[in-house]
Amino acid sequence: MPRIDPHSFFDDAQPLTRSWSLRLRVDFERQVLAGSAALRLAAPAGGPLDLDTKGLSIRRVTAAGGAEVPFELGAEEPILGRRLRLHLPAGTAGATVEYETSPAAVGLQWLAPAQTEGKRHPFLFSQCQAIHARTLVPCQDCAVARVTYDAEIAVPAPLTAVMSAGPDGQSPGPAGWRTFRFRMPQPIPSYLLALAVGELEGRDLSPRSRVWAEPATVERAAWEFAETETLVARAEALFGPYEWDRFDMLVLPPSFPYGGMENPRMTFLTPTLLAGDRSLVDVVAHELAHSWTGNLVTNATAEHFWLNEGWTVFAERRILRALRGDAAASMGWSIGQKELDDSLERFQDKPELTVLRTHLEGVDPDDAFSSIPYEKGARFLVALERAVGEERFDRFIQAYLSRFRFRSITTEQFCAFVEEELPGALARVDADAWLHRPGMPDGAPRFVSARLEEITALAEGWKAGRRPAPAEVQAWKPTELLVYLQKLPRDLGVEDCAWLDRELELDGRGNHEILVQWLCIAARAGHAPAFPRIREVLSKVGRMKFVRPLYQALGATGPGRALAREIFAAAAPTYHALTRRVAEGVIEKYPA
Ligand code: BES
Ligand code: ZN
Repeated sequence: MPRIDPHSFFDDAQPLTRSWSLRLRVDFERQVLAGSAALRLAAPAGGPLDLDTKGLSIRRVTAAGGAEVPFELGAEEPILGRRLRLHLPAGTAGATVEYETSPAAVGLQWLAPAQTEGKRHPFLFSQCQAIHARTLVPCQDCAVARVTYDAEIAVPAPLTAVMSAGPDGQSPGPAGWRTFRFRMPQPIPSYLLALAVGELEGRDLSPRSRVWAEPATVERAAWEFAETETLVARAEALFGPYEWDRFDMLVLPPSFPYGGMENPRMTFLTPTLLAGDRSLVDVVAHELAHSWTGNLVTNATAEHFWLNEGWTVFAERRILRALRGDAAASMGWSIGQKELDDSLERFQDKPELTVLRTHLEGVDPDDAFSSIPYEKGARFLVALERAVGEERFDRFIQAYLSRFRFRSITTEQFCAFVEEELPGALARVDADAWLHRPGMPDGAPRFVSARLEEITALAEGWKAGRRPAPAEVQAWKPTELLVYLQKLPRDLGVEDCAWLDRELELDGRGNHEILVQWLCIAARAGHAPAFPRIREVLSKVGRMKFVRPLYQALGATGPGRALAREIFAAAAPTYHALTRRVAEGVIEKYPA
């Protein structure tokens, strides 16, 4: 039988895992998680059971009653890791794997105290999507094999553990240790397993929402995300009841490689969202939207990733439109268009990665990652929405969510369902072009607003000498300034930069989207006064969305390249493994 997921040893002809019980000790000295994972099967079964592992040392496998279960670890494969094959005696209900993780586990980042805000305690966080859960737990690491889980996590006092699960009490462990218990009663794909440990404090935002962060950050975080309950209520009005009990969030140290990660009941967020003006809550809206379009209905494999992210961008902009109006939503679409264009350019030589339904045999999902499934995917859904009308599409959304809830589906299943519910709609939008052909189809939806056109015209008039009045820019919304910077000509010189820097005071912006957009312009131009700020950002912030374009922009000039190499040499050991790989990949392509 061919495997259904090119990124997993999961075999759908074998027994299915139904739940995990994790008992893990967080060893900061050795940088490993050590303990056991008890896997329960959906029904008692026997024969081979193939699990994914990467870097795990397996000590022993036992069945209920303690009988040893024979196992073998396959050869290391570059993307997948090693297959762990258990030979289950007939009628086995579950197996317990005793193991520990590797200090090199890509799914974990172990931070020294110096990399935290408080500087006194170490910090650990996980990032399992797309295929890194196997570096934490031996498991069927394929989204089709949803599991519930419970966990007992022992951490050194006085640290706190949080997970993508509900808290289920804590107890003092052996001297100097605390044990935190968790329970996730709803079935989740393995990529939504999440754990973080550090000096953490929580602030309630509403009866069902709390933000966690290091003590020095938590007040700022509570202020920034004070609107969360409004977002949840808006999302519920659009997509139905929130199904995950609590919507808590954790603000991580700045090396977190993403903007946000929709870990259920505990969204992980980059601290770069703390702009001080609530201007970046679209990321919260996005991670929240995944509670429906993603965590409830997700992609079967990375080849259908657009189903997860395209739907979520669509849902995020719907929430934003309900909250802030049409003009704000078109700004969102415009910013997304820029990200889409950049990704299309980056994959010029890999058009096969610009289709929505991808084929990723032999391709690392982290290398295939781009804004294409997000923005092309969302535009495909808007095309369908426009073809059938918003009202009908809204009913379709409800039907889609209730039909596939708690499942992980393929593009083909999605299309069959659209054909059932909205007959003829796929053909009308030329779904084949969206799904299977590279680049953007002709007639893709456009998003316009008077304000967007004004700002675009102003930016495009730069070469003709048009400049905004600085006082006027002070009154712009942050997204307007961001769009303006994105639309400026790409080849500005140092004099242009000096003007922008002086008149618009861009260096001191707390909004990292604006700051980084500006620093990229400055880097491309070789505007040396911005170099210290670039160094500061790249030495601290690990969010790949910022790191990649900054290193890329530095590549445009000799002094920029020298700076990039110097920053990278110093910062690489503190980067997340994923961030390091992205930065390395960019620098390797610099001209010698
Ligand atoms: N699930 C993603 C992050 C992710 C994707 C992690 C693939 C690992 C592999 C998350 O929901 C996301 O899309 N985050 C975006 C924010 C957003 C507003 C588009 C990000 O991190 O920038
Ligand atoms: Zn997302």
